[in-house]
Amino acid sequence: MYYSEDVIEEVRMKNDIVDVISSYVRLQKKGSSYFGLCPFHNEKSPSFSVSRDKQMYYCFGCGAGGNVFTFLMEYEHFSFTEALRYLADRAGVELPKEQYSKAAKERADLRETLLAVNKLAAKYYFAQLKSEKGRQAYKYLTDRALTEDTIVHFGLGYATKYSDDLSRYLKMKGYSDEVIVQSGLASIDEKHGIHDKFWNRVMFPIMDANSRVIGFGGRVMGDGKPKYLNSPETPIFDKSRNLYGLNRARSSRKPYFLLCEGYMDVIALHQAGFTNAVASLGTAFTPGHASLIKRYVQEVYLTYDSDEAGTKAALRAMPILKEAGITAKVIRMDPYKDPDEFIKNLGAEAFEERIRKARNGFMYSLEVLERQYDMNSPEGKTAFMQEVAARLGEFEEQIERDNYTEAVAKAYKVAFEDLKKLVSKTAVERGLAAPARRPKQTVTVKEKEDGNLKSQKILLTWMIEDMTVFSQVKAYITPEDFTGSLYKEVASLLYEQYEEGELNPARILNYFTDEEEHREAASLFHTKIRELSTKEEQEKALKETVIKVKNHSIEEAGKALAPTDIKGLQKLMEAKKDLQKLYQMQISVK
Ligand code: UTP
Ligand code: MN
Repeated sequence: MYYSEDVIEEVRMKNDIVDVISSYVRLQKKGSSYFGLCPFHNEKSPSFSVSRDKQMYYCFGCGAGGNVFTFLMEYEHFSFTEALRYLADRAGVELPKEQYSKAAKERADLRETLLAVNKLAAKYYFAQLKSEKGRQAYKYLTDRALTEDTIVHFGLGYATKYSDDLSRYLKMKGYSDEVIVQSGLASIDEKHGIHDKFWNRVMFPIMDANSRVIGFGGRVMGDGKPKYLNSPETPIFDKSRNLYGLNRARSSRKPYFLLCEGYMDVIALHQAGFTNAVASLGTAFTPGHASLIKRYVQEVYLTYDSDEAGTKAALRAMPILKEAGITAKVIRMDPYKDPDEFIKNLGAEAFEERIRKARNGFMYSLEVLERQYDMNSPEGKTAFMQEVAARLGEFEEQIERDNYTEAVAKAYKVAFEDLKKLVSKTAVERGLAAPARRPKQTVTVKEKEDGNLKSQKILLTWMIEDMTVFSQVKAYITPEDFTGSLYKEVASLLYEQYEEGELNPARILNYFTDEEEHREAASLFHTKIRELSTKEEQEKALKETVIKVKNHSIEEAGKALAPTDIKGLQKLMEAKKDLQKLYQMQISVK
C-alpha cells in the first residue's frame, strides 16, 4: 500500500516523539533533550536521548536512532506501514482506504474474521479453565508447577468434554458454520453436524509476534493419544513462520534465543525467568523459522530434548540456522529429558550454568557422530576422523575452517598439521574442489568502498548537526558527490530543505518506507563521529572527510566515463584541479 508523503508527514507531526517514546521508556528532561535508559541495549546509566525540537532519538551508547516511525519499527518490530497505521490511529488521523482488488479484499476480510474467531475462542477456553468445569484442568496445570500468573500470561485454557461447546458459542456470537470450520476449530460431517476439534484438553493459544491468537495446541491430561492436537494450517496460521513464545521473547532484550521443542518447555523457561525461550509449533525447524529469528537475534541456544529424537532434531536445525547466518550453541540437558523437567528438578540457576557451558554446535554434532564409531579401535577412530575431516572441509572460509580444525585437533588429541592435511586430502577425494579461496583483492576493494560510504555518512551527520558546517560544505560538495543511491537521495532532500531554510531530517525519513532502506537512511544521520576534543582537530577531520568524499566522487565519475567523451574528460580534469584547491580551504566548526 502506498501512502502519500503528506499523509505520512501529518501522522508524524501529530505524534510527538517525546510522548510516544515516554510510554516505553522513562525519560527525564536535561537541557533541551530528554534522556533515559536505551531500550535497544543493556545499560545502567542513560545514554538514550530524545529531542523534541528535532523529533528524533539517538543513543550515544549503541548508535540507535531515527524518527518516531523508526522507533516503533525497532521497538515493536513493526513494518513501516504498521508503524504508520499505529500512529495514525493514536493521533486520530484517518488514513485513506486501501485500494484492494476484490480478491485481495476478500482475503484480508477472511483473515480479520479468523483472527477474531481465534481470539474469541481463546477467551472462551480461558473462561472455561477458570470455571467449575475446568477444575481438573486447572489442577493439572498447577500440578505441573505453573503459577496463576503464568497461566494468565500465556492465556492457557480448557476445552470442555462436550464436543460442540465452542462451536455453539461461536455461532451464538454470530459466526457461520463455514467460518468456524475455516478457523480450524471445528469440522463438519453430514451425520454429526458440526463438532469441535478440541475437547477435554488443556489449551495453549498460539500467538504471532504481535500477540494475536492464530491457532491452538491442546494437550490431553494424562497419557491419552495423541498427546497434543494442533490447529491445522489456515490463512492465518502458518506453522513454519511462527514460533511459540516469540511474542514475549522478542522483547526480552537478550542477544540470543533459547530454542526448545515443546510448549511446556517455553512456558517453564519463561516462568523461571528465561523469557527469551521459543519453540517451533509441533513441526520441524524450517528456514522460515530461522529468518524469523534473524529479525531479532543473531544467536540461538538449542535446548532440545536429550533423547534420540531431540538430538536428531537439533542436528537438523543447525545447518538451517547456519545458513541463515545465526550462530548455534547446544545446551546439555542431561540427566533430564527437557528444559521443563530440568528446571523443575534443578532450578533456574543450574539452567543458567548450563547456558554458560553450552557447546558450540559443530563440536556437539561431532560428539553425536562419535557414537556411530568404535572409538576404542584404531580403525574406528580413523574412520571417525575421516568423516570429521570431510565435515571440516565444508567450512568455506579458511579462517573458520582452520579455527575448527584447531578445536577438533585439541579435543581429539591429534596434531593440527596432520588434521589440516587430512582435511584438504578428503576434500579433494570427495570431489569438492579445494574450498573457494576468495581472491584477496575483492576483499580490500569492498573495505575501501565501505570506508568511502562511512565518510559520506559522517559528512551528512556533521552537516545536520551544524548549519554553519552545511553552508560551508555545500560550496564544495553537491548531492551528486554522494555515491550510494540512497545517500544521493538523502543528500538531495537535505539540500532542498537547506535552500528552504530549515533542516528536518525526521521528515526525510518519511520517504523511506522499505524497512531496510529506512534503517539505512536513519543511520546516515547518526553516524558516530570520533570524539575530537579541540576545535582544530575537528576542523582537520572535517576537511579530510570533505576531501575524501570529493576524491571518491571524482574517481567514480572517471570510471563511468567513456574514453571518447572529451567534454566529460575536460570536466574531470577541472574537478581534479578543484580538488587541489580543497587542500587550501578553511572550514570552521562551531
Ligand atoms: P513433547 O512430547 O516433548 O512434549 O513434544 P512436551 O512439550 O514436553 O509436553 P509435555 O511436557 O509432555 O506436556 C514437543 C512438542 O511437539 C509437539 C508439541 O508442539 C509439543 O510441545 N507435539 C508433540 C505434537 O504436536 N503432537 C504430539 O502428539 C506430541
Ligand atoms: Mn515435557
